Amino acid sequence: MLPGPTNVPNRVTNAMSSPMINHRSDDFRTLYKDIIAKTKVVFETENDIVLLTTSGTGAVEASVVNLIKKDDAVIVPVNGEFGTRLADLVDNVGGRAIRITAPFGENPSLEKIKEAFEINRNVKALYAIYNETSTGTTLRYMSELGKICEDNDTFFVADAVSILGGDDLPVDKWKVDICVTASQKALAAPPGLAPMSISKEAKKYMTENPPATQYLNLKRYFKYFEENFETPFTPAISLFYAFREALEIITEEGMRNRIERHRLCAKALYAGLKELGLAPFAQEDARSNVVIAINYLQGMDDKKFRQILSSQFRVLLAGGFGELKGKVFRIGCMGEVTGYHVMRTLSAISSTMEMLKVPAQGEGLSVAHEILGTK
Ligand SMILES: Cc1ncc(COP(=O)(O)O)c(C=O)c1O
Repeated sequence: MLPGPTNVPNRVTNAMSSPMINHRSDDFRTLYKDIIAKTKVVFETENDIVLLTTSGTGAVEASVVNLIKKDDAVIVPVNGEFGTRLADLVDNVGGRAIRITAPFGENPSLEKIKEAFEINRNVKALYAIYNETSTGTTLRYMSELGKICEDNDTFFVADAVSILGGDDLPVDKWKVDICVTASQKALAAPPGLAPMSISKEAKKYMTENPPATQYLNLKRYFKYFEENFETPFTPAISLFYAFREALEIITEEGMRNRIERHRLCAKALYAGLKELGLAPFAQEDARSNVVIAINYLQGMDDKKFRQILSSQFRVLLAGGFGELKGKVFRIGCMGEVTGYHVMRTLSAISSTMEMLKVPAQGEGLSVAHEILGTK
């Protein structure tokens, strides 16, 4: 139950044992074309897709180094670790990050973002962390951000690393110019791949103004795909096989069903945890359906709590990090999560609380069971 890497179905793991192939062969071209077509369905986009052999950070970095030049003004809502990192990255490549901050656990107000557009002329891009994994918050105004960016002739970039595949993100409808995610979270594939979509306008800009980097130079990826359906550098072929299988599983389930499953599991988890006497870290209107961050009660030591959960109940949860270290634990409600995982997690948390002598209060399991049973 980690917020990544998440459980990987056997079909996906088994796909990795396919024989190695030449990445300059028709076998590879067929595989890559298939992945790109399926990724477009999952992203709900007609935009170009690039599949990088990197973790999510590689794709986030690619979205910055290919778009942001010296002194470019870039608006970044910041309400957690990943927003902080992204704004710092923009500054580090010579851009000028305009941080729109909110206390952790809350979302910056849309008004403050609109104001930033009024105060600052010629904003090059807005970078939004759709789901702030460190605090369990989700920006619920992404489609408005898309419209604002369009009106201001600004590129709209979404870091959807910890959410795509688990909640709504229709890239074209929401006018997202660059959307970045990673294989190991809600897409339920092994870590190591990072798909990203790039709009026509962003592609044109990147092609005319390529960065001084080699591996993350997206112009090369466009060229190799257009000319030969290949990648410019050796891809992680075994992971490509796994990723295709993961996308196939998503296609079989259907994105709508998948998102509904995530929502239902999150609803049951929030309700069950509340009944046990535990409160989410995030404010209600900002709460994520894919990463659930919960405040520790007095007497719940982070290390002991997660150690018992892991060794006695074989349930893995994540701790907090940065400012939230020791203050919260985080449940990944993503990828292959089902009612079974929800019930088993709640049961393990309740028993662990008992063992730590911080007894759980109400009937968390029956409340969750009831919600899950509504489907
Ligand atoms: C929102 C967000 N952005 C970026 C990253 C970085 O991804 P990775 O660890 O795959 O490099 C993460 C990882 O958890 C994330 O949650």
